[in-house]
Amino acid sequence: MPSTPRGGRNSACYFEEDPCSNPRVTQTIGDLISRRTLLQAAAAGLATSCLMDTSDANESVSARNQPPADGPSTLTFQELQHGNDLRAAVAPGYDLHVLLRWGDPLFSDGLGFDPLDQTAPRQTRQFGYNCDFTAFLPLPSDGDGRLRGLLCVNHEYTNTNLMFPGVVDQHCLETLSKERVDVELAALGHSVCEIRQDRGRWSAVPTSPFNRRITALDTEISVSGPAAGHPRLQTSQDPSGTRVIGTLNNCAGGVTPWGTMLICEENFNSYFSGQASQTPEARNHLRYGIDGPSRFSPALANHYPRFNIEHEPNEPNRFGWVVEFDPFDPDSMPVKRTALGRVKHEGAGITVNHDGRVVIYCGDDERFDYVYRFVTNRPYDPHNRAANRDLLDDGVLSVARFNDDGSLRWLPLVYGSGPLTSKHGFHSQADVVIEARRAADMVGATPMDRPEDVEVSPQSGHVFVILTNNSKRTPEQAAGPNPRAINEHGHILELVPPGAADAIDHCAETFQWEVFLKAGNPAKPSDDSSYHAATSANGWFSSPDNGAFDSDGRLWLTTDSDHQLTGFGDGIYACDVDGAGRALTKLFFRGPRGSEVSGVCLTPDNETLFVSVQHPGEEDGSDFQKPSTRWPDFQSSKPPRPAVVAITRRGGGRIGS
Ligand code: FEO
Ligand code: CA
Ligand code: CA
Ligand code: CA
Repeated sequence: MPSTPRGGRNSACYFEEDPCSNPRVTQTIGDLISRRTLLQAAAAGLATSCLMDTSDANESVSARNQPPADGPSTLTFQELQHGNDLRAAVAPGYDLHVLLRWGDPLFSDGLGFDPLDQTAPRQTRQFGYNCDFTAFLPLPSDGDGRLRGLLCVNHEYTNTNLMFPGVVDQHCLETLSKERVDVELAALGHSVCEIRQDRGRWSAVPTSPFNRRITALDTEISVSGPAAGHPRLQTSQDPSGTRVIGTLNNCAGGVTPWGTMLICEENFNSYFSGQASQTPEARNHLRYGIDGPSRFSPALANHYPRFNIEHEPNEPNRFGWVVEFDPFDPDSMPVKRTALGRVKHEGAGITVNHDGRVVIYCGDDERFDYVYRFVTNRPYDPHNRAANRDLLDDGVLSVARFNDDGSLRWLPLVYGSGPLTSKHGFHSQADVVIEARRAADMVGATPMDRPEDVEVSPQSGHVFVILTNNSKRTPEQAAGPNPRAINEHGHILELVPPGAADAIDHCAETFQWEVFLKAGNPAKPSDDSSYHAATSANGWFSSPDNGAFDSDGRLWLTTDSDHQLTGFGDGIYACDVDGAGRALTKLFFRGPRGSEVSGVCLTPDNETLFVSVQHPGEEDGSDFQKPSTRWPDFQSSKPPRPAVVAITRRGGGRIGS
């Protein structure tokens, strides 16, 4: 989702960032936790230094920063120039093909795209809107030598005014018909589509039995883990508290080692209407920014009363989870894994620890919110896929506290430990995971500059936390892991778990951390950016969002920036993370006007890069009739369409080098 308003859903007010809902930004920790509780926490094994607010962080951490690298990058492509064009562009010597567009049929029943007659039944059989996270899962060859695999893609949100004709002002959204609301709900969620490569070019296979749509409209999803069946998840439609219709705002995600997808529910608050004070869940709803009219559409709750919190106060507790499903079994029911906590999950950075336990890192994308870690109690079994089926229901959720000496401590969010007791409204682990943000507030997590994707280097095991921006951080709050006030451009942290290279310990209580880079314009001293010294005038960027490592350990970053602030559109930037070319970012791909470049992934052979181009044409004054671009079709009868692009090297070969 855009980090700053750019016209968005028809009116700039729609996609303004949520106001910060973290009370610790205005309260001291002492307001939240009594001294007695601190002492109890210390007795329970939580270091009291971890319970102090971030004001104790200082600049001494800069002494830990590595000296700037000064050698060449291992990435030899010729970088693009910054720009903001009607069309997408890729570095010279590479080809880009539009692979899947909003409305493309995923099934062979003929329900194709008709922009003047989109219906929910059509949309549930078509590729969804605003593609985000992408993952490629190889399938065995059919024997014809052609590569094939499943492309799994999230659909994050919708742009009503670019999807439908005649949506010209806010009033149109308030009176949005049920038919149009249903199309939008059907356009959210996830698509699984088999793709095959023929003579270097990938295309969809609409006859594949693997193809599937998961939607916000009609997909039944089960709930597992500590909150499953809890009274706070029960509604009049689902008294069991274990079955939810739909998944919302699926942003980034991850692939587990056993080949299931994790798709993360991010800005779920946008869909709910009603006054929090009129519900028994007021404190909870306010901490997630749910209060007042829905930013998706006030019409949603008219057509579906469960989205009115005054009518159904527990419904929001059923969203904000990490959802797991098996893309190889199109009949399987997705599962909301509540053990991982309820926040505005950007994505899920997954790795297997040296002892076999699975570790998942998650950012909660909100100004002044936190970075989380989940560690399974049982090890992953690489020889028995079924044994891993419910692995994510049993483990320890923690939240990061960054210390001023360059260390960080993972603070467990476990019912009964420290302040997470009945005295503070936590009566079970279900309460802890449902109100994960408040639990993290209580233990003293470090408020961050909008944590987006977290990626683990396959080479070093180091953990890269992408912080997109935070224009609200004050000079008094700028320190340590969030070093800049009014952080308009964002930065990336590198977390270093302890242990030898072949036994790195992602489950350790304490890591080290340092700033990997600070985004912004290196030619502008007031930006206070930091990159490799050789970063070019086209290699700098603003507001990094998603990332992916290639098989050589290079990091591919996508941006979600304010195009008016930078003067150019979003793109893909690649860099080494180690060695002489560390943090030498180079521009590889540019999205078309108004777009955000989001989910990126590479095939295991590193020869294809897939990337989502989200909301092309999302700019002030742009709508269905007069969009600022008609990418990728450029037909006057068609609006711009979000699409996944496949990038290959002309003549074949590895991407980037
Ligand atoms: Fe959906 Fe935080 O980007
Ligand atoms: Ca996004
Ligand atoms: Ca973003
Ligand atoms: Ca994102």
